[in-house]
Amino acid sequence: MVGMPGVGKSALAHALAEVRGVTALDTDDLVDEMTGRSVQEWIRVEGEAAFREVEADALERALTEDVVVATGGGTLTSSRSRELLVGQPVLWLDADVDTLLTRLDETDRPLLEGDPRTRLSELADARRSLYAEAATWTLSGAQSLDALVPRVDALLTPSMTRRVELGERSYDVVIARGARHRLAGLLSRSAPRARRAALLTTASLRVQPWFDLSTGLETVVIEVPDGEAAKTFSTLEQVCEQLAHAGLSRHDVVVSVGGGAVCDLAGFVAAIYLRGVGVAHVATTLLAQVDAAVGGKTAVDLAAGKNLVGAFHQPLGVLCDLEVLDTLPEREWRSGWGEVVKCALLEGRDDVTPDEPAALVDLAVDLKARIVSSDEREGAQRALLNYGHTLAHAIEALALERDPDELRHGEAVGVGLAFAARLALRLGRIEATRVEHVDEILTRFGLETRLKEFDTEEILSYMARDKKAHHDLTFVLDGPRGVEVVSGVDVGVVRATLEAMKGER
Ligand SMILES: NC(=O)c1ccc[n+]([C@@H]2O[C@H](COP(=O)([O-])OP(=O)(O)OC[C@H]3O[C@@H](n4cnc5c(N)ncnc54)[C@H](O)[C@@H]3O)[C@@H](O)[C@H]2O)c1
Repeated sequence: MVGMPGVGKSALAHALAEVRGVTALDTDDLVDEMTGRSVQEWIRVEGEAAFREVEADALERALTEDVVVATGGGTLTSSRSRELLVGQPVLWLDADVDTLLTRLDETDRPLLEGDPRTRLSELADARRSLYAEAATWTLSGAQSLDALVPRVDALLTPSMTRRVELGERSYDVVIARGARHRLAGLLSRSAPRARRAALLTTASLRVQPWFDLSTGLETVVIEVPDGEAAKTFSTLEQVCEQLAHAGLSRHDVVVSVGGGAVCDLAGFVAAIYLRGVGVAHVATTLLAQVDAAVGGKTAVDLAAGKNLVGAFHQPLGVLCDLEVLDTLPEREWRSGWGEVVKCALLEGRDDVTPDEPAALVDLAVDLKARIVSSDEREGAQRALLNYGHTLAHAIEALALERDPDELRHGEAVGVGLAFAARLALRLGRIEATRVEHVDEILTRFGLETRLKEFDTEEILSYMARDKKAHHDLTFVLDGPRGVEVVSGVDVGVVRATLEAMKGER
């Protein structure tokens, strides 16, 4: 545990150690025990530099055991102590100066002599970046011990990390309950010169119980409209104006906290503001976690169609927090499942069930990370991710004209996967039992396998226009060599498959 004096590291360390059945150690107490002299005595008599050396000795000794260690407020000012903490799970307990002052015992704190408020503010400013850089997680120390202990305990469960390998632009996608608490550490390490963060989110997400994020930086929160309404040129312009007004510089960062819509907008804002600033995504829908936040595609919509203007802009990192999914409405889960089932089919994983969301987010992120790593800008590899999407894009666009709420993206992908199986069957690429099996997997996740009221000719004309269809009808289809991109599919066969699917009961 790291953080300012008075923030409650020691009390938390002892309470947490009790819950986990391990020992709690204070570096201050260890110094006392090892040298027979108190911290105060060391600092007064030998000076701070000498004390930091024995403190690093104490830390080194503490870290040989399975323990919870409360470090001193200034421990991280020593480069040796900082190095000792590299690779260790570190919690930064953060609090403002007012909270610290109410808790501090001012009687014997040699480093706070004089005016404690001014001294604390100076120390907090000087140490903030050291805490952030060392931090795995950041939590507010202003909360009660009763609230903190179970939270920290939950953070210690194993997390999964997938890496998108793009040379200097490589980044991690962390999948864990409480992953949002890694934001300050992520920003500190990936954008060390950042002083400010602009956090883009919606009013409805800001009031969720889990909206307790710390960036470790001076932060301005910018609210954008909910859902697809965020992805417009006018919102884009307003957000850029707000960034300029907040004084966001080239070294500063944009953070998205939301679903795919916020992610797409924030990514595009970051791609173009000052010709590009860093962006990190805290993905809060299943769909954003398994798809939108990973891979660097960003976009806004035109009246002529969705996602027609955008840029590739890879994030600094992505946090997929499974805890925030606790508040996700059922329909949004289903929408995410559509993409998850797509990934499971691409991976030949027919055994998947919705009971294990963590493993399934990991499966999808792993696949997307691998594909983006080898094919960032959508050549043949990345096109595989469009499995089920040729029909999905068409019926999504047609449904949108009738009722914006009729069909969610992943729901359309589900229908698109059922259709792709039927088309593959008609082209003699797979057996009928495979189609039944795909339907069964989709049904397991509550996804629709029937094609409802859509005009076949309208679907075909949309497919022909779809930017991913190039000159002839292109589909991603299952077959004897597995799933692959198949071009030049005869329109007559597609029409017949659509008609037959519409006739199914
Ligand atoms: N860039 C890409 O590679 C990519 C890939 C797939 C989809 N997308 C885009 O993503 C968008 C769809 O994303 P989406 O499905 O996440 O929709 P969304 O962003 O509109 O979010 C859906 C709804 O869920 C709410 N919500 C979000 N997180 C919540 C939470 N934790 N608890 C409760 N409510 C929550 C949102 O406020 C919203 O009302 C589309 O615009 C699509 O084009 C982009």
